Amino acid sequence: MAILFDSTSRLFTLRTDHSMYQMKADRYGVLLHTWFGIRSSVFDYSYRIAYADRGFSGNPYDAGEDRTYSLDALPQEFPVYGSGDYRSTALKVRYPDGTFSCDLRYLKHEIRKGKYSLPGLPALYETSGNADTLIITLEDTRRMFYVHLYYGVLEDLDIITRAVCVENHSNADIYIENIQSVCVDYLHGDYDLHTFYGRHVKERNYQRTPVVHGIQSAGSTRGTSSHQYNPFLILSDRNASEDTGNCYGFSFVYSGDFIGSAELDQYDQTRFLLGIHPDNFCYCVKPGECFYAPEAVMAYSADGLGSLSRIFHRAYRDHLCRGKWTTTRRPVLLNAWEGVYFDFNGDKLIQMAKDAAALGVELFVMDDGWFGKRDLDVSGLGDWTVNEEKLGCSLKELSDQIHSFGIKFGIWFEPEGINEDSNLYRSHPEWALQIPGKKPTRSRQQLLLDFSREDVRDYIFTHICQVLDSARIEYLKWDLNRSLTDLYSAALPATRQGEIMHRYVLGLYDMLEKLIQRYPDLLIEGCSGGGGRFDAGMLYYTPQIWCSDDTDAIERLSIQYGTSFGYPVSTMGSHVSHCPNEQTRRIAPLNTRATAAMSGTFGYELDVNKMSADEKDIVKTQIEEFKKYYDLIQYGDYYRLTNPDTVEAYHGWEFAAADGSEALLCIVALQIHPNGPGRWMCLKGLREDGIYVVDGREYPGGVLMNSGLLLPDAAEEYQSFRIHITMKSN
Ligand code: GLA
Repeated sequence: MAILFDSTSRLFTLRTDHSMYQMKADRYGVLLHTWFGIRSSVFDYSYRIAYADRGFSGNPYDAGEDRTYSLDALPQEFPVYGSGDYRSTALKVRYPDGTFSCDLRYLKHEIRKGKYSLPGLPALYETSGNADTLIITLEDTRRMFYVHLYYGVLEDLDIITRAVCVENHSNADIYIENIQSVCVDYLHGDYDLHTFYGRHVKERNYQRTPVVHGIQSAGSTRGTSSHQYNPFLILSDRNASEDTGNCYGFSFVYSGDFIGSAELDQYDQTRFLLGIHPDNFCYCVKPGECFYAPEAVMAYSADGLGSLSRIFHRAYRDHLCRGKWTTTRRPVLLNAWEGVYFDFNGDKLIQMAKDAAALGVELFVMDDGWFGKRDLDVSGLGDWTVNEEKLGCSLKELSDQIHSFGIKFGIWFEPEGINEDSNLYRSHPEWALQIPGKKPTRSRQQLLLDFSREDVRDYIFTHICQVLDSARIEYLKWDLNRSLTDLYSAALPATRQGEIMHRYVLGLYDMLEKLIQRYPDLLIEGCSGGGGRFDAGMLYYTPQIWCSDDTDAIERLSIQYGTSFGYPVSTMGSHVSHCPNEQTRRIAPLNTRATAAMSGTFGYELDVNKMSADEKDIVKTQIEEFKKYYDLIQYGDYYRLTNPDTVEAYHGWEFAAADGSEALLCIVALQIHPNGPGRWMCLKGLREDGIYVVDGREYPGGVLMNSGLLLPDAAEEYQSFRIHITMKSN
C-alpha cells in the first residue's frame, strides 16, 4: 500500500517507488508536514521539529502555557491566514462577519484505492490500479467549513498529486480570498528556485536563483498561465545538477492565473506554495457548496534535474494526455500560416497541400483567415462561418481535395476571441469581457468572449460543431491571442465578480471536454500566440501545444530546452520554417531547422512552392528520418546534455531508449572557431557494458558516457548533426 496511517501517532506516510511524503496530526490536531524526499522505511520524521520559546511567535489557546508551540515556526501541511503564522499561507477565508482569522484542525481521513478525479478540472489519471487516494479532512474551529486535502499517490510513476476542496457546512456564505493547492515546508537547507520566464516569441527561459530571506515568486495575473511565467517550478539543493542532488518539481494542472512562491523565513526554513494567484480571485462558497482548488503535481528526484524531468515526461505523456493521440502516431503536418499568412484562396491551399503530400507530409492545416471577414487580424473573430467567397469553394470541397492527396486536413480556431468588427459583436456586445462605462483594453485589436457564461460557450460550440460537421476535419488548432483584462461578467452579481477568472478557465475546460467527447478522434493542438498557455491543464485536452511563434531554429533550442524541464517532447509543437527566419532574419541550415523541429511534434510551416528541388529532396528525407526515429523521440528518455544559453560551442541533447538499446544524439554548433579545439559530448542513458556502434566504430557504453564521443567538426555556424547510436551487444 502506498498510503500508510499509524493511528497511535496519527502519522500519514505516502510512498512512491523512490520518494516519500509524510504528515502528522499532532496533539492539538494541527496537521504538520514532516517529510518530502527520499523513500525510507516508515519512521516518524517529526523528530526533526525543534520546539522553542520564540519571542513574538504567538501560541494557540489550547497550547495553554506552552510557549514553545507556535504556528509561526512549525512546518505545516496547510497553513492558514490569521492565527499566528505570519509566513505566506495556503488559505485565506472571509467569514460572514467580515473577519479572516482561521484555524484548522484534523477531523478525519479516508484512504481509497485508485486516483481521485476533480469535477470540471483536469487531473492526472491512473487506470492500471497503481494509484491510491488519501483525503484528510480538517475542520475550521468556528465550525463553518471543512477543508478536504486530496492526495493522489502514483507509486510507480513517482508522483504525488494534491488538490483541495473547501466545503461550506454553515448556513452563510463564505468567501475564499486565497487558496493554494500545494504547501511544502522544508525545515532546513539551502535551496535554489528554478523558474521559466518569458514573453511572446521567447517563452520558458530557464532561470535559477538562490532562495533568500523574503518571498520569491513567479506567477500570472493574465487570465492564462501565460508566456511570462510558466506554472512549473523546481526547488533544488543549492548544488544540484542535471545528474545529482535533491530536486522537487511542482506543476500546476491549471491554465489560468497562478502563483508559485518560495519563502525563506525568519528561522531559515523554506516554504514553497503553488496555487491560484489571489489578485483576481475571490470566490463565494454558498452553504452546502464545495470549491475545488486545481490539482498540483509534485515529484522528487534524488538524482538531479534530468531525472526529475523524466518523471514529469512519463507522467504527462501517459497519464495526463488522453485519448487516441496519446498512443497513436501523430501526423507530420504542414501549417500554412508562415507560408501565406492571410493571403490565400482555396486553389493556393490545394497546391500547397499537394506539394506537401508529395514530400511525405501527413496533415495539412489551414490557419487563420478562412472565416467571416478575416483578411487581417482586425476583424471577423467570432464569426465562425466559412468564407466561401475567399476560398472559392466550400469547406467540404477543399477538404475533399486535400484528402484526395492521401493526407488529413486541419483547421484553426480562436473560440475565445472576438473582434468589435464582427457580426457577433454587433449583435452581442455584452458577450465580450468589458466593464460597463469603461473603454476596454484592446490587444491585437480584439476582445475576449466571456467564457464564464454557458450561453456564450454554447453559441460558440454550436458554430464550431457546424464547421467540423460540414467537412472531414481531423485536426483543430485552438488558439488564444491576448491576455484577459476588464473583468466583468453581465451574468454575475457584484459580489461575485471576483470569480470570473476562475470561471473563465472552468468554462474553457467545459467546452474542450465537450469537444473531445463529441469528436474523440480529433487531434487538438493548443496555442496561445505560440506558447502562452503551455501548461499541464491544457495537456489534459490538447496533447500537443504550439511551443512558440518564434520558429527560428536557434531560438527554439532555448525555448524547447526550458520547456523540457516540465513537459515531454511529445507535447511540443515544433515546425521547420523558411529562411531568413520571419522573426529573427537568421539563416540556419535546413538540416538544423529539422534537428530542432524533430525534438517536438515535427512539421513544416512554409510554402513548399517556394522551395528548390534540392530542398524538397532534403525535406523528403527529413520526414522519412523522423518517421524512422518516431518512437525513440516521442517515447524515449530525454536527456539535456548542455544548456544552449551558456554552452560555449556545441549544444547537445539526446533521446535514449528506456532499455539503452539505441540513442539519438542531436548536436548544434552554436559557434565555430577556425582552428578550434576538438569538441566532445558525454552521452547518457546507455548501458555501461553494452557495445555501441557509432558511424561504424564500436565503443562500450561506459566509455561514451564517461569519456565521451569526439564530435564531427562543423563546417559552418549552426550546422547540426543527428547521430544514431545502436547497441550491438552487452
Ligand atoms: C497566433 C498563433 C500562430 C497563428 C496566428 C494566426 O499567433 O500562435 O501560429 O495561428 O495566431 O493569427
